[in-house]
Amino acid sequence: MNVLVIGSGAREHALCRSLSLDPAVTALYCAPGNAGIAEVAELRRVDALDGEAVSALAVELGAELVIVGPEAPLVAGVADAVRDAGIPVFGPSKEAAQLEGSKAFAKDVMAAAGVPTSRSYVCTTPEEVAEALDAFGAPYVVKDDGLAAGKGVVVTDDLEAAAAHAAGCERVVIEEFLDGPEVSLFAITDGVSVVPLQPAQDFKRALDGDEGPNTGGMGAYSPLPWADPKLVDEVLETVLQPTVDEMRHRGTPFSGLLYAGLAITSRGVRVIEFNARFGDPETQVVLARLKTPLAGVLKAAATGDLADLPALRWSEDAAVTVVIASHNYPGTPRTGDPISGLAEVAAEDAPHAYVLHAGTKYDGDDRDTVVSAGGRVLSVTATGTDLTEARERAYQAVGRIGLDGAQHRTDIAAKAAAGA
Ligand code: AMP
Ligand code: GLY
Repeated sequence: MNVLVIGSGAREHALCRSLSLDPAVTALYCAPGNAGIAEVAELRRVDALDGEAVSALAVELGAELVIVGPEAPLVAGVADAVRDAGIPVFGPSKEAAQLEGSKAFAKDVMAAAGVPTSRSYVCTTPEEVAEALDAFGAPYVVKDDGLAAGKGVVVTDDLEAAAAHAAGCERVVIEEFLDGPEVSLFAITDGVSVVPLQPAQDFKRALDGDEGPNTGGMGAYSPLPWADPKLVDEVLETVLQPTVDEMRHRGTPFSGLLYAGLAITSRGVRVIEFNARFGDPETQVVLARLKTPLAGVLKAAATGDLADLPALRWSEDAAVTVVIASHNYPGTPRTGDPISGLAEVAAEDAPHAYVLHAGTKYDGDDRDTVVSAGGRVLSVTATGTDLTEARERAYQAVGRIGLDGAQHRTDIAAKAAAGA
């Protein structure tokens, strides 16, 4: 199978890594990719937001499956353009991607499908904002309605800061604060059948101890030893299947990856948000544990054949990933700094630990030097018999990486590994 992956993050590197290990994949391409993905896939240049350009590339490459990684191309309708060219595509249509593209739309779908989520108001004027903030009280949760790369949400006890964030957005969702641990649960769906993956936990805040601003995600681990073993079945029944059914009944079936961001509250599971694609960095740990070859699973979702797919097989291993981010992330990151230690990790820590690239590129024509090119730069991933071992291996590899001014969290999976 010829496969084309669209995107350039560590999530796409994880996808390409798994696909490169799948014997069914005969040729693997990634556009635009990055310096790490170049080691497992042939890179092509493309404007990932341009559906016509992506579908023309897929035709040129003889792609039999196109996987659209990030949300922005999905919301821009790139999957539709590829599907219109007659090529199976893993990723929802523009309309279905509104589950992620508009938080107000997602709330509407959840209400119609009876999916448990926080109470919320959609506000467009300062008066409505003031009223909603007053109705819920602190802590305030204020979300930009549209896409914001994980940075559109402010959770704060400070009324002024909450109102200020709302004032900077055209339309905001203000909602009830949800207490309790967060879980990311991904499901693969063809619009009818739903196949959940293993749950993971993401670390959204920039600093240790869940301090600092929200980010796209600073690390993740799977499995979740503290979670109720029935969690996945419960979420399938109360969240994932009803949402997929509701989207189909609306005439906008959702196929691809449905990501449920959940809070496990004292009153039960609540949806914090939906995303319309694999999460980053959770994908790095979920795919590290998936034993079933990936291409066939994604192809079955793309062609409507998920009902015939045998049950997924999972490794008993635990997986941990630690994100190394640029100086100043999640603000405007400093880029262009050389990265050292990549060869050492490959020599000393493989196969249990490996580096997945996000914002990296070659230093011009110099293929020996990789430099930072974005906010999140690397996602150092490791497996082990338990979270303690996976953590040790991940941090040992992190210790070999040099990147001036870089930051990473030191507490990824620490509580879970300690059984807390
Ligand atoms: P979102 O982009 O909706 O996932 O929000 C980013 C992060 O903000 C989440 O992972 C949570 O940590 C936090 N958050 C969002 N909504 C809520 C909520 N209703 N209650 C508490 N925390 C929230
Ligand atoms: N890790 C959060 C996200 O992918 O949105």
